[in-house]
Amino acid sequence: MEFLKRTTTCGALGKADVGKKVILNGWVHRKRDHGGISFINLRDRYGITQVVVDAAGETGAEKELARIAGELRNEYCIAVEGIVRPRPPSMVNPEMATGEIEVAAEKLLVLNRSEVLPFQIDEESDAKEETRLTYRYLDLRSGGMQRRIRLRSELCFAVREWMTSQDFYEIETPTFIRSTPEGARDYLVPSRLYPGKFYALPQSPQLYKQILMVAGFDKYFQIARCYRDEDARGDRQPEFTQIDIEMSFVSREDVLAAAEGLLGYAFKKTLNRELPPHFTRLTFEEALERYGTDKPDLRFAMPLQDFGPYTAEGGFQAFKDALTAGEAAKAAAATRGITQNSGGVKALVVPGELMGKAGKGPYSRKQIEELEAQAKIYRAKGLAWMKVAGTEEAPVLEGGVSKFFGDGSSGENGLAQRILSGLGAKPGDLILITADADRRIANIALGAVRSKLGRDLGLLDPGRFEFVWILDFPLFEFNDEENRWEAAHHMFSYPQEQYHATLEQDPGAVKGDLYDLVLNGFEQASGSIRIHDPELQQRIFSIMGFDPEEAEQKFGFLTGAFKYGAPPHGGIALGLDRLVMLMAGETSIKEVIAFPKNSFAVSPMDDSPGEVDPKQLDELHLAVVKPPEKKP
Ligand code: AMO
Ligand code: AMP
Repeated sequence: MEFLKRTTTCGALGKADVGKKVILNGWVHRKRDHGGISFINLRDRYGITQVVVDAAGETGAEKELARIAGELRNEYCIAVEGIVRPRPPSMVNPEMATGEIEVAAEKLLVLNRSEVLPFQIDEESDAKEETRLTYRYLDLRSGGMQRRIRLRSELCFAVREWMTSQDFYEIETPTFIRSTPEGARDYLVPSRLYPGKFYALPQSPQLYKQILMVAGFDKYFQIARCYRDEDARGDRQPEFTQIDIEMSFVSREDVLAAAEGLLGYAFKKTLNRELPPHFTRLTFEEALERYGTDKPDLRFAMPLQDFGPYTAEGGFQAFKDALTAGEAAKAAAATRGITQNSGGVKALVVPGELMGKAGKGPYSRKQIEELEAQAKIYRAKGLAWMKVAGTEEAPVLEGGVSKFFGDGSSGENGLAQRILSGLGAKPGDLILITADADRRIANIALGAVRSKLGRDLGLLDPGRFEFVWILDFPLFEFNDEENRWEAAHHMFSYPQEQYHATLEQDPGAVKGDLYDLVLNGFEQASGSIRIHDPELQQRIFSIMGFDPEEAEQKFGFLTGAFKYGAPPHGGIALGLDRLVMLMAGETSIKEVIAFPKNSFAVSPMDDSPGEVDPKQLDELHLAVVKPPEKKP
């Protein structure tokens, strides 16, 4: 096909090019007509160049130029031939990379027309998500989507650069596999050749990467597609991408160092940002005690503090009851050899300064009730509060449950004074407290309040990157519904050495060689040192209720491989989508995926999932039994 093929792009021209004859290809971003002169902002992936059609003349060619310019509408795909010239000084646009020049058109060619757009192509589209996803090809033309997809591409390149520089091999693993348990539901692929049999799409390449270690590859990585049938959320998609890593002959420290090295390189390369060489570390217990979550956002402080020491002396019965009930439950569990949480009373000091800065100055009763509602979602029985009033020299507790803790009048050693100095609370501050017989609930509920305060008080600076390792997770979690232990991460993680003797006796107390990396309150990566001893693996399976036969059937290929000199190994997987999302300062991973699904796991653009031809079902030996329609 003959057309005016571009000689340069819409982001390339500057003062140095003045006088050159150029051809540009791109889309009409905006067009303005000023009495016979048309200004066209021509856009491509590289930028925007102003094209001027000044065709007041009389010649045939000029008339043709004016005719075509008159026809142009937004998002027409066109070719322009013309001469680069400086803009008049008053028209120079310092905001634009090409803001000092314009191209005086001599020839225009419409390569393709565009229908009237469902929404304007801009920096960011303000159309509804459903519309954006239906016309994703238009949405992707926006400046923001173009930048984010570019960042994603650059990040993947940086990952490959760093990993290969460290002697990792990039190895692909299959996407039609035997089900690998990661805790979500599998997407299944029916087999045509074997009626009634199915492949599963991998929830992660977990078993394969471990087998690659048995196979002697030593250092593996993959930018791997993973599939999980779970409810979509802002940071979750049914199909997503991991930077998946596995290493042999390593301890935890080697894996953490690899992830730190990779991220340090990638942030420098793509965002020109320096990360600290080593990230902050918290144990799982510390994270829960200080932030009430294993995904703490460390862009702001406001740690949870222990209010337990003040409860006995104070007169508030709900607090005392929580601790007494917690002690009783713990003691009862101990007689059965089981470790259980004690009760807890936790406090959070909201600095008056932060409330003031956010223009939310002393919190009203209604605002506190909203915080309480948040705490109750996380099973708190209530959210007690007190305000700090008085002066710097003589602060006092006021309102809420303060009457149970003295008013500060009993002087320096009075209870109120010890609470204030213990918590580091100043006049203007708000103190929030949760109490529960299960310390974990007191922590988690107050942690949820802390997170809400972070959002409400505008403390979540998208330009800051606060990484934190969470270490020493429990290996097992009890599933109350199914009344059995299950893996907190997955069942191939190594229980820390000191628990090996008592695994079966007290599974709840066992800590694993597990680690998560959290960035700005999002779980960014997760990994572990693995079990490489088939016998230990069997014990873990049986604690989780798999009898040896079932385990053999499900994971036999892994335990089988382990019988042939499996090396000690460990690894980690980073959520690529979440990483790009946070690097781009976004809060939804849909903003960094070219073709995501919506919150109902549907792609509105191609309308998948869709029905298939009955013939296809026959070939797959499948019959569809639809559930009865739900009555509205
Ligand atoms: P895990 O299941 O924790 O571990 O997943 C690792 C990381 O992948 C990201 N992630 C997701 N991102 C988008 N949408 C989802 N639905 C989704 N699910 C997970 C998160 C998470 O931290 N095989 C193990 C890793 C290992 O042990 O090496 C695994 O998959 O950022
Ligand atoms: P009450 O005496 O039950 O009316 O409660 C007085 C205040 O204490 C209310 O603000 C409750 O939300 C709060 N409260 C009650 N129980 C708890 C608890 N277990 N933890 C924190 N606050 C509580």
